[in-house]
Amino acid sequence: MDKLVIEGGVPLSGEIAVSGAKNAALPALAACLLTAEPVILDRIPQVRDIRTMLDLIGHIIGAEVSVEGGRVTIHSARIEHPEAPYELVKTMRASSLVLGPLVGRCGRARVSLPGGCAIGARPINLHVSGLERLGAEVRQEHGYIEAVAPHGLQGANVQFDRISVTGTEDLLMAAVLARGETVIENAAREPEVADLAALLAAMGAKIEGAGTSTIRVQGVAKLGGAEHTIIPDRIEAGTFLIGGALTGGDLTVRGCVPEHLRALIAKLQQAGVDVTEPSPDTLRVRVPGKLKNVDITTEEHPGFATDLQAQFMTLMTQAAGISFVTETIFENRFMHAQELARMGANIRLEGRQAIVAGPTPLSGAQVIASDLRASASLVLAGLAARGETVVDRVYHIDRGYEKIESKLAGAGARIRRETS
Ligand code: EPU
Repeated sequence: MDKLVIEGGVPLSGEIAVSGAKNAALPALAACLLTAEPVILDRIPQVRDIRTMLDLIGHIIGAEVSVEGGRVTIHSARIEHPEAPYELVKTMRASSLVLGPLVGRCGRARVSLPGGCAIGARPINLHVSGLERLGAEVRQEHGYIEAVAPHGLQGANVQFDRISVTGTEDLLMAAVLARGETVIENAAREPEVADLAALLAAMGAKIEGAGTSTIRVQGVAKLGGAEHTIIPDRIEAGTFLIGGALTGGDLTVRGCVPEHLRALIAKLQQAGVDVTEPSPDTLRVRVPGKLKNVDITTEEHPGFATDLQAQFMTLMTQAAGISFVTETIFENRFMHAQELARMGANIRLEGRQAIVAGPTPLSGAQVIASDLRASASLVLAGLAARGETVVDRVYHIDRGYEKIESKLAGAGARIRRETS
């Protein structure tokens, strides 16, 4: 199992380039199942979750998918197996994103239920009830969701009980081939949803309002091929910006969309970080003085992203005063707190709130990552700590960060991978 070994204490400086967004690439790949024509996707990050999705799509279409660096071509001429087996869904919950496209295109799908995961229950009841509103008959048997729509889907009004990112994406992909109009209310407003809608529009779908809480879809009979470039990964960009601030560096993050990072930028500025936009796709962080305590509460976009909560908590261990970090999206997303405490942080957990008292010097230790973003927060802590930090179970980080060690090393970090 791979480990990352970090010798801390070097400020990050220079430039880091951002990869394509994993969470935009995953639904985009699933969307390719909606057409029999080839779809070409650019800036697909080479990370483990994408490999899993490509394997799943290969299984569904019964053919190899062409991958040339960040360019992926999917030609779903036929759907051989309209199903997502347990072996793939258990390693990546986003596999349930094939449910909507498969029911939309073939009128049936069989998708394993995701079960629990490190950060919470992660049910897909919203995906299922949305499809039912569009006329699918759904039953649950032997750990699988089986959905059928023998006469095709029929547009409808769907009001989500709570906001779900992949739930919105799944339903959007089902609705584009449904008869008539579908209106999705209380839709997720994440940039990844808007990026999916842009791809679907390029394929011939008729969609209005993606990126707002009401999305209107006029179903079409057929979609065609398209070429699309995935948006930059705002969570990766945010992770590096926090790393730059945490290590007292002078770091420029290139190839990002500052508009997607407004909530983080505001919190960094409140914490005393100087954040500038040297060009429209570049952000630069520097820390002119001491870091100040800031409270954050995770929210759906455009609020503070839950996927940056762990990294920001690491930052707050170095800020003067008490910060309250409140997690509202997932019920169990504080697993990094104990590991940060082992490195010297002073963090108390009270239900959905973590109370961080800083600044406390961090000292390198052996730590274990429990999920993707927790791993990222521990890598950042290692960069700021005195001495050596060994982050174990790096496969978590490999799920969503492309070449993280070489990117960080390029900005001066002393970090290496050890394979045992
Ligand atoms: N929820 C339900 N029922 C559902 C779906 C969701 O109750 O049918 C609940 C979840 O349990 C959670 C909340 O709704 O408490 C929000 O979950 P959401 O569905 O929005 O999460 P997701 O779509 O499964 C995506 C990202 C996550 C990110 C969340 C929140 C992808 C592939 N994953 O997950 O990314 O944390 O939105 O922004 O887009 C990550 O990249 O590390 C990651 C976990």
